[in-house]
Amino acid sequence: MARIPREIVDAIRDRTDISAVIGRRVKLQKAGASLKGLCPFHQEKTPSFHVIPSKGIFHCFGCQESGDVFGFLMRVEGLSFVEAVKELAGPAGVTLVEEDLSPDERRRLRARTTLFDVLEEAASFYESTLWTRPEGQACRDYLRERGLPEAIVREARLGCAPDGWNRLLEHLHGRGFPARMVMEAGLARERRGNDGHYDFFRNRLMFPIRDDRNRVIGFGGRVLPGDDAPKYFNNGETPLYAKSTVLYGIEGARGAIQRADRTIVVEGYFDVLAMRAAGHYEAVACCGTALTEQHVDRLSRLSRNLLLLTDGDQAGQDAAERSLPMLVKAGVHGFRVDLPGAKDPDEYVATNGPEALTAALEHRQSLVEWVVDRKLAQYADQTAAGPQRTAMSRERVLEDLRDLLALLPHSLVSRVAARIGMREEIVLESLKHAPRPQEAQPTVQTAGWRPHRDMVHVFWLLVHRYDQVADLVQGLPPDVFGDHPATHGSLARLLSGEPVAAVINEEPDPGVARTLSAVVARDTLYDADVAALSMAQVVRRLLAPRQHAERSRLTAALEAAIREGDPATQRELLQARAALHARTSALDEALEAEDVVGFMNSVRAS
Ligand code: CTP
Ligand code: MN
Repeated sequence: MARIPREIVDAIRDRTDISAVIGRRVKLQKAGASLKGLCPFHQEKTPSFHVIPSKGIFHCFGCQESGDVFGFLMRVEGLSFVEAVKELAGPAGVTLVEEDLSPDERRRLRARTTLFDVLEEAASFYESTLWTRPEGQACRDYLRERGLPEAIVREARLGCAPDGWNRLLEHLHGRGFPARMVMEAGLARERRGNDGHYDFFRNRLMFPIRDDRNRVIGFGGRVLPGDDAPKYFNNGETPLYAKSTVLYGIEGARGAIQRADRTIVVEGYFDVLAMRAAGHYEAVACCGTALTEQHVDRLSRLSRNLLLLTDGDQAGQDAAERSLPMLVKAGVHGFRVDLPGAKDPDEYVATNGPEALTAALEHRQSLVEWVVDRKLAQYADQTAAGPQRTAMSRERVLEDLRDLLALLPHSLVSRVAARIGMREEIVLESLKHAPRPQEAQPTVQTAGWRPHRDMVHVFWLLVHRYDQVADLVQGLPPDVFGDHPATHGSLARLLSGEPVAAVINEEPDPGVARTLSAVVARDTLYDADVAALSMAQVVRRLLAPRQHAERSRLTAALEAAIREGDPATQRELLQARAALHARTSALDEALEAEDVVGFMNSVRAS
């Protein structure tokens, strides 16, 4: 791999606010000198993921993932190191020289950019067709009929795919994009018999789908009135577009979800825009699929509250019910909002106006309770006097909900019991037979060096109390710090004052790297005024086992010399043992007197 000079990498890291980069993907809260949030690398309900802006690193105490801002991007976005560096270079105002990249890396980077470029160019083409060309007329009319404010339509960058088999292909060809790339972006298909390509979206109202950084990654296309083709077409799977993770509207919703501390999930593209027209930007929709675990996972990092505004029809209600276990497992509070008399939010706004929608949002119902009620109604026994809840129907509801109830916290179980109309003890008793699933255990890598407690303290002092301890330990023989050569490289670099993020980044032993970042994330161990003395005490503890070993060795040799009747060796060994004793005593006395400099000098001398 071609290397980017370390100075450049360091400069980019220096000028990048790691809390901002991570904060775009993880909701962070202040916790002392660091920031805390739910770890994006494993499932958890209480935050153990720390970001330490002053040191430029992150660390999760739950799953031990850690690293600097580049490492974070590599893991969450699947980038290579060079790609991560490149991604942050621009915003940091650092120019990267392309020559630093290997041909392979250059190609990968370019392929990635170009796919975004194709989609961006296509979005502009659809937009300008909609607004400025005669053939955009049908779409313009249709949009007027739907009654969306033009500002919302423009902000969402809706467009028009003109009729014809290769209008987009031709346009993109003129801009230098080969048909193969258009196909890779999901915008064209191959003709049968290897006979060229044709546009995938034709004569449709186009909804560009963007990622949370506002880059177009795909499209949905709605049929126009009078055309009997399927109502919606969605982008096929591409390197940039996977329907199981994509959320329509996320580019506008991310910040709004965090501010409102809730996500609104609706079913359709038009519903997202109707929500926006009513002032609710925290709305997103899945694209041609039901809500998946990945969707929930993405959203749960922005807020723990999720309102479902799925369609009121049977299918929409089934979908809401199916999403409940997923939400519970992800630790997300699910709610459902009913929109009486309307098929979906778009229709509701069109009939009742935006204020009515805002008011309806206030009448949200806990999803668990809504599901219980729905089941109760479903299993109610039909009697002559109408549907009735009987002991039988309650049993069946309980049976249906058992797996789900096993996932719920106790407080919710008792509410559900009350709702079903059963005694709480009976419900709990029946749960004993249901397997209680456990929270997924984070996988902890076990390879590499395992930290010794005292070494952790040495690292901590060097990272957090450098000014108080660096001079003190400068020039100590490296083997003072244990017989783990793995630690020596990083120790030397820390001692020479290199930023800890850089040291972690280049530490080849994952055990050492993990320990270092855990150390960085731990912000209280020793106050500055006791740092030097503490370092001396730690070094004293590190030396102790070796001194014991040395003493045992001398004693054993001495006994052998006595057995063999070798007085010269005996004398020599006795002297050596006395010297060892003098040295350890000197160390202990210096420590006792808190003479830290004297102590370190004795260590150096011994
Ligand atoms: N959908 C789809 N394919 C279809 C129909 C629907 O992918 N053939 C997806 C689309 O993402 C659509 C959503 O399901 O936005 C909801 O579909 P539907 O309720 O039928 O449409 P609306 O969004 O209400 O569309 P409109 O208001 O334009 O009729
Ligand atoms: Mn609709």
